[in-house]
Amino acid sequence: MHVPVLLQEVCEGLRLTAGTNCLDGTVGLGGHARKILRLTAPTGRVVGFDRDSKTLAAAKETLVEFGNRFIPIHDTYANLAVHSAELEVAKPIGAILLDLGLSSLQLDDQDRGFAWRYPEARLDMRFDVSGGETVADLLNRRTEEELAVLFSKYGEVRRSKGLAREIVARREQQSFATAGDLLAAVEKVMPNRPHLRTHPATTVFQALRIAVNRELDQLEEFLPRAIDLLAPGGRLAIISFHSIEDRIVKKFLRKAATECVCPPEILECRCEHHASVKNITKKPIVPSDEEVAVNPRSRSAKLRIAEKI
Ligand SMILES: C[S@@+](CC[C@H](N)C(=O)[O-])C[C@H]1O[C@@H](n2cnc3c(N)ncnc32)[C@H](O)[C@@H]1O
Repeated sequence: MHVPVLLQEVCEGLRLTAGTNCLDGTVGLGGHARKILRLTAPTGRVVGFDRDSKTLAAAKETLVEFGNRFIPIHDTYANLAVHSAELEVAKPIGAILLDLGLSSLQLDDQDRGFAWRYPEARLDMRFDVSGGETVADLLNRRTEEELAVLFSKYGEVRRSKGLAREIVARREQQSFATAGDLLAAVEKVMPNRPHLRTHPATTVFQALRIAVNRELDQLEEFLPRAIDLLAPGGRLAIISFHSIEDRIVKKFLRKAATECVCPPEILECRCEHHASVKNITKKPIVPSDEEVAVNPRSRSAKLRIAEKI
């Protein structure tokens, strides 16, 4: 079961009313979308993107009662422009949501390789299985230096160089194929210890998932397009689970909320930049202790909200 994170905070922050149209860029199993469709009844529409066809099929099934008010799109949210016809039907768009990361369904899917807990799983981790490189391909092809940078940049892995070296040594004997192959390499370099809050493999698996799906690029491409698409007064809500994602959102929104971005030594503005949003959350909203107790997956969530000017 996937429990939607910060559900009430998202719905309040998006200021949904009857008829508000919404773009849900990461519809997942439709947890947030269901609540949004209820709050915006009878006419509000939700355009729901997901890169994972299996997940989107599940969302269509659970949201069937909302008929054509739910418009599913199998694609990355970064490809907004490709779907202008579907988006046209849902204009004006008064609310946009991204709930980043992966769903419990994906994490617990023993065929996808997202979790180190299932050592038999193939090391895939692509959200969209119709193309692109799998994690196994990546581990078998990238240079030691590239792997070390990837672990350090996307996972802030302590022993990124040592892990990259271990992977390259192991693949000379046998190619990486399963989650268990990767887990063995991680445990050799960073043994699990009882005092650690999370298993060392958690951040390694997360870093590889981010890399193989180009998750940070998708987010950076999406943000300016989302602001363009929002109707004036409309709201954008983004839930991130990783400090790098939150930094990208924070930096983008800070600049988007600034009137002039000229360097301070320039006395007369030449940048022609204008604020396009107002930041509603100065500090990110985080889940309450009660929510974390009920849904531990929510513990690293951060929600930022902005309003289009
Ligand atoms: C945390 S889940 C969303 C859960 C959803 N809010 C719910 O309540 O059921 C994130 C979803 O985003 C999808 N996803 C990740 N990156 C994506 C992208 N670039 N474009 C579209 N969907 C993406 C994943 O496949 C996953 O289903």
